[in-house]
Amino acid sequence: MDFPGVALVVGAASGIGKATALQYAADGCQRVAIADIQALPLQEVQAEIEKDYPAVKVKALQVDVTSYPSVQAMIDAVVEQFGRIDYCANLAGIIGFGDTVNLPLSTFDNVYEVNLRGIFYCCKAEIAQMLQQSPLTSQGAICNVSSQAGLMGNGNLPAYVATKHGVVGLSKSDGAKYASRGIRVNALCPGSIETPMLGHLPSGEEGKRREAERIQEIAMGRVGLPGEMANCIMFLTSGRSSFVTATTLAAHGGIRNQ
Ligand SMILES: NC(=O)c1ccc[n+]([C@@H]2O[C@H](COP(=O)([O-])OP(=O)(O)OC[C@H]3O[C@@H](n4cnc5c(N)ncnc54)[C@H](O)[C@@H]3O)[C@@H](O)[C@H]2O)c1
Repeated sequence: MDFPGVALVVGAASGIGKATALQYAADGCQRVAIADIQALPLQEVQAEIEKDYPAVKVKALQVDVTSYPSVQAMIDAVVEQFGRIDYCANLAGIIGFGDTVNLPLSTFDNVYEVNLRGIFYCCKAEIAQMLQQSPLTSQGAICNVSSQAGLMGNGNLPAYVATKHGVVGLSKSDGAKYASRGIRVNALCPGSIETPMLGHLPSGEEGKRREAERIQEIAMGRVGLPGEMANCIMFLTSGRSSFVTATTLAAHGGIRNQ
């Protein structure tokens, strides 16, 4: 796949975001910006890309997506270094377990601030930048990472589910609004993917029981891999999906009894 211009991956220090940053480099993007709240793991991702793809220029930036000034500073730094932003993958996210009655108010607020307000902040700053640029092959493409939880309910994850539905709504709205300006916006909805986030299940028997239940629901009988999600993001942000916008791609290995 061909990625002329500049890619930005937000939430790149771990899991699907790390795989996405590496995949942009593997797929020929020569300028890759990576951002995350975790500075040290992000530096390790930068070092890995530079080692495996010496021709690729990498800019690593610490960002807290819950702060708009931090997000704007990230965009400004990428533009200062690389001159433009063409492909954005917004992945920063956290999970919070607990049914509505028992979920602490602070957990709801934290999940909302990162998963929905944070993605909105990223889109706001990214789209504003894309609108100012002269287009390369397109004006720009954004993939917001929602979840299977953005398409259906889960009684143990109401805050996560609500924010991930919000990401779908935001992506559909921005995709429709900016289509006439040549910017595409879509949401990827992964199922269960083998990342540190999956490890945040409760420990002991309860965790094992939930893990078994999760696999039971997946038609392919396994969880997905971060690289499989990175490939979906490559599709949604490359010219291969030039007529795809304001929609979702569900990548969950099939849901039994759907
Ligand atoms: N792993 C799964 O099963 C799964 C399923 C569906 C959707 N997702 C979504 O995919 C995305 C990536 O998740 P992952 O599984 O790779 O998890 P992960 O925990 O490995 O990665 C999430 C990244 O987001 C970063 N982050 C958290 N808060 C941030 C903030 N305030 N500012 C900037 N960065 C911040 C973390 O530091 C981390 O590097 C998330 O949005 C998640 O909700 C994951």
